[in-house]
Amino acid sequence: MDNKNIESALHETRQFPPAPAFAAAAHPNVGELAALHAAAERDHVGFWADQARSALQWHKPFTQTLDESDAPNYRWFADGQLNVSVNCTDVHLAQHGDKAALIFEAEQGAVRRLSYRELHAEVCRFANALRNLGIGRGDRVILYLPLVPEAIIAMQACARIGAIHSVVFGGFSALSLRDRIEDAGARLLITADGGHRGGNVIELKAACDKALSEGGASIEQVIVLQHTAHDVPMQAGRDLWWHDVVSGQPDHCEPEWVGAEHPLFLLYTSGSTGKPKGIQHSSGGYLLGAKLTAQWVFDLKPADVFWCTADVGWITGHSYVAYGPLANAATVVLYEGGPTWPDAGRFWRIIQDHRVSIFYTAPTALRALMKLGDHIPQQYDLSSLRLLGSVGEPINPEAWMWYRSVIGQDRCPIVDTWWQTETGSILISPVPGVTATKPGSCTRPLPGIVADIVDDEGHSVTTPDTGGYLVIRKPWPAMLRTIWNDNERYVSTYWERFQNRYYVAGDSANRDADGYFWIMGRIDDVLNVAGHRLGTMEIESALVAHLRVAEAAVVGRPHEIKGEAVFAYVVCRGERPTGDTREFVEELRKWVGEQLGAIAKPDEIRFTDNLPKTRSGKIMRRLLRTIARGEEITQDISTLENPGIVEQLRGDDGSGKGR
Ligand code: WT7
Repeated sequence: MDNKNIESALHETRQFPPAPAFAAAAHPNVGELAALHAAAERDHVGFWADQARSALQWHKPFTQTLDESDAPNYRWFADGQLNVSVNCTDVHLAQHGDKAALIFEAEQGAVRRLSYRELHAEVCRFANALRNLGIGRGDRVILYLPLVPEAIIAMQACARIGAIHSVVFGGFSALSLRDRIEDAGARLLITADGGHRGGNVIELKAACDKALSEGGASIEQVIVLQHTAHDVPMQAGRDLWWHDVVSGQPDHCEPEWVGAEHPLFLLYTSGSTGKPKGIQHSSGGYLLGAKLTAQWVFDLKPADVFWCTADVGWITGHSYVAYGPLANAATVVLYEGGPTWPDAGRFWRIIQDHRVSIFYTAPTALRALMKLGDHIPQQYDLSSLRLLGSVGEPINPEAWMWYRSVIGQDRCPIVDTWWQTETGSILISPVPGVTATKPGSCTRPLPGIVADIVDDEGHSVTTPDTGGYLVIRKPWPAMLRTIWNDNERYVSTYWERFQNRYYVAGDSANRDADGYFWIMGRIDDVLNVAGHRLGTMEIESALVAHLRVAEAAVVGRPHEIKGEAVFAYVVCRGERPTGDTREFVEELRKWVGEQLGAIAKPDEIRFTDNLPKTRSGKIMRRLLRTIARGEEITQDISTLENPGIVEQLRGDDGSGKGR
């Protein structure tokens, strides 16, 4: 790998231990955490069995904890039976029935509260409606919804009847939606007339209509939530209103007891090849991971108001909005709209108004908000905050310090949580009442997680500050089970690199002398744009699908706010566009947006006569990255088929955007 044995450039020496008062009240505290680690080290499988027995309510207890017979397709608690929705609602009714489960704030400001009793009733009604439509165990249901309570209700309702949900983020295009519907073979699509974002209406129903007119033939019915209440066409026989299907449904619903390995959901994520992967998660192991980590990492207490800003279209919104906090009977804030709508204080006002105590967001949002100036958060009462979290990409020390001092007012610990869609729940993170944090480090693995850094040969890297592959040495309950319809890709992507011995995360990392982990970035062709994974191949395929594009290569370039920006080199059919290319660049950006969704739009497009290729025809991506970053070329370019192209790629010959 590129950064093998490269000494880490970052030398952060500041350390922030938790305040004594926080540490004293925290769970786990120092002693409890040490006991958890000791138990897991003594008996990895026994530790997880104990956790699963005490944390979850089982309909039928499991007798076998870990089945390794089909490794790396590990199975956990396989003969146990449970229901995820029962564990997130029914179990709380006696003690917390009147406690707020969801506090929803609409972009226009309306607030709606649902107690655990109300949430349970809504989930049951909708689950009954789904059953009524013939949906049941194992059926795939696609959700394409705004971030509203019904998104949570629909996920929980699927779980209640054993249907497998797959949430598609509302920012994805109609064509991305269609591809996911087809890969999942989904029977039902649940959407809304529209969503609100930044003062605009997102046309969700229109995108569904487009997706279904161009494929998606497995979909039999579409349930449409009335949310924006603007006119949308309804197709007779196919489209049904949410309020009609739930009308008259009873508020209790017999749960479907499923085996712990029964798939709870699929969530599509980008990989280094063109096709998104349907990451398949289990019911028992997944819920255990989401529930325990919500407790360990966020120190959830009965009075907490927990706000994770992620959309349910991402894994963060699954584990720390829809499942983990609810399994802990926490109060969850849900906000549909944009962070700076109608003004730059929106996030801080939400924290003030709902007395949010735990706030979990992404570095990209923090950097964007930080840029607007300290005077904005300073206008709000943020005294309810007691803990802050970060997720999605490495957080730069500057943003970390700002988060700590301006938002947390030097009072709140920061948990920088490392994990992935595939890992299901947080694996490496500070435990806020125990760990002394360092800005930019996700610190140490949680109990029961055996993370390591290995070199090309798979040997543990023991020299401090030396990079290598981040791997997980032992299976853990919340891990993905497979890639839907493509187990070979599961094995080759995550396991083959080291002969199926460890889970390979695809990140490079190093460890400092204190054993703290520092994530360095992806090792594959995957970009991390605003905390979201984008495959370079996906964007390249979208570009070459345009009539005028012959070839494209996409690389990432550091971006002040988004972490990484999308940089595309494009070879056109016929003449290379020169002069004022702005209009064509816009056309291509719009095109990619239509194919994949707005987040994938290239930030910069540079036209070239050719891509840099080796004599064997391989595109030299490393060279393109260097050029996109404006760095000096140090790699060997003598193997280039066409060395003259370098000048053009740099834009030095008067070509390219904005020159
Ligand atoms: C990739 C996973 C996990 C939820 C959000 C993203 C990067 C994630 C951190 C962190 C440094 C991080 C990694 C990882 N990443 N959290 N705290 N520090 N990098 O989920 O889309 O599955 O992306 O995000 O590169 O592999 P995802």
